[in-house]
Amino acid sequence: MNAAAPSLMPLWSLREDCGFRSVPGDPGAGVVSTPWEEIRLDARNPAVGRALERMTYGPVSLDNVLPGFSEGTGPAEERPQYDALDAVLGRLQHVVVRTLALAGGTDHVTVVPIARRARFTPRRPDAHAVHRLSRFVTLTAGPEGWIAESPLTAHRVVLHTPQAGWLVSCYARPTAVGEVSRLLGLPVAETSLVVGYLEAAGMLVPGTPRADAPDTYSFAEDEDTVLASWSPRELLVHQRSRPGAHDEPVGEYGDPVRPGGPARPRDNDGIAVAPAGRAPVSAAAPAIPLPVPLPAGAGAGRREPALSEVLAARRSERPDDGRPLSLDQLGELLHRSAAERPAGGRPYPSLGARYPLELYLTVSGGGDLKRGIYHYDPHGHRLSPLETAPDLVDELLAEAAGNAGLSQEPSVLISMTARYRRTAGAYRGTAYSALLKEVGALQQTLYLVATAMGLGPCALAFGDTETAARAFGLDWRAEPGVGEFVVSAFPGGV
Ligand SMILES: Cc1cc2nc3c(=O)[nH]c(=O)nc-3n(C[C@H](O)[C@H](O)[C@H](O)COP(=O)(O)O)c2cc1C
Repeated sequence: MNAAAPSLMPLWSLREDCGFRSVPGDPGAGVVSTPWEEIRLDARNPAVGRALERMTYGPVSLDNVLPGFSEGTGPAEERPQYDALDAVLGRLQHVVVRTLALAGGTDHVTVVPIARRARFTPRRPDAHAVHRLSRFVTLTAGPEGWIAESPLTAHRVVLHTPQAGWLVSCYARPTAVGEVSRLLGLPVAETSLVVGYLEAAGMLVPGTPRADAPDTYSFAEDEDTVLASWSPRELLVHQRSRPGAHDEPVGEYGDPVRPGGPARPRDNDGIAVAPAGRAPVSAAAPAIPLPVPLPAGAGAGRREPALSEVLAARRSERPDDGRPLSLDQLGELLHRSAAERPAGGRPYPSLGARYPLELYLTVSGGGDLKRGIYHYDPHGHRLSPLETAPDLVDELLAEAAGNAGLSQEPSVLISMTARYRRTAGAYRGTAYSALLKEVGALQQTLYLVATAMGLGPCALAFGDTETAARAFGLDWRAEPGVGEFVVSAFPGGV
């Protein structure tokens, strides 16, 4: 390193899931295996093979392989070696981990590529360069320090030392490299090196001085009209729920149930079917068996509309003079939409046949069912009354009426909760997004069945997390509310 270089040491390694091997019979070739592919490289230059091999063991200083490599200060006659190593590292950018270590050897900041598209070309910004933490960055505590992540970047950054964390916290607002150096008592060159790494990893975004207001800066991500509609949280959840742009596991890993495969215990998630806690299933009121509708075409009464007619007629109905559903109507609606079939499966699809959704019916009363809350058992096709405090029933129905724009309570509010572990136990990363899709599938099934029956259905956008958890006696972390739907009968019926 030259005299002006900072005391931080740049180290290089391959991602832990990568390997390097020589090719038998071809001493000039090497292969780097990565999570995405195998890369055959020209390893005729001995420095290349030496460097890659060492990089599989953990972070190494390439200056130990080729003196002066990190600052480009080695002797001119070794230029071909530098160029060969440089070219190989450039080709492997998406699997090369870059670490800055303190003089004593302690890791300070590590930048890990997490996607195939990762490219890392750090600059050394000058003392006047202004940056800010990207508003899409999330910091979480990890085993080796803070972990900085963003859905917009192809890298993850580990801030190993408190000093690295302090540097990042300086960037909660636009700040110049020189100012950060002053605040932390560090040489500008050292700050600049770390800032360059964080900028290249996408965690810090560079500011541009605004012509219209002195000492203020604009940031490209704030002006980006595509990003404007995303909240950072939603973008991260979205991006991490699908593979391709990060290295977190997405998909099946547990014990999914295949249609036609061995039967799954009905409730293998460790959570009792009947909700326990503040609103237990009523001991005084036994479960209410629901009528099972006759198979289509078997009844002498109502004409079954064709599917094409139902699809054409489906719409969200918000009748202000809605009437209670009879027990027969509730039985038919739930049986055709959500009941477990004798041979397994349900009318709506579910990822891995895990069926995480549970239904709680809040009934306004005045019909066959008393006012109150009932848990639906899709296996036994029956309702279990809960002992919920009346004011919580009032709250749920008032909230649903408000969300549907009704001037009176809906006859029935169907709240969908998800026993999260049922899906998360078999599918990593994608469980939450999958169960929301299942809410959509169940909502559409309810819409179509209700339309065919001449009832008034309407999906709702949300319900209150705390109210639902208290009303159903649930720990919302284990079984959160995820969907709401209201149904009423029209006056006079069909
Ligand atoms: C996910 C979702 C959430 C909805 N949330 C509400 C809501 O909170 N209140 C409401 O009155 N309608 C709600 N709706 C119904 C939509 O407003 C309705 O589907 C849309 O206006 C189209 O009308 P249509 O269903 O009659 O075709 C929701 C629909 C969906 C799919």
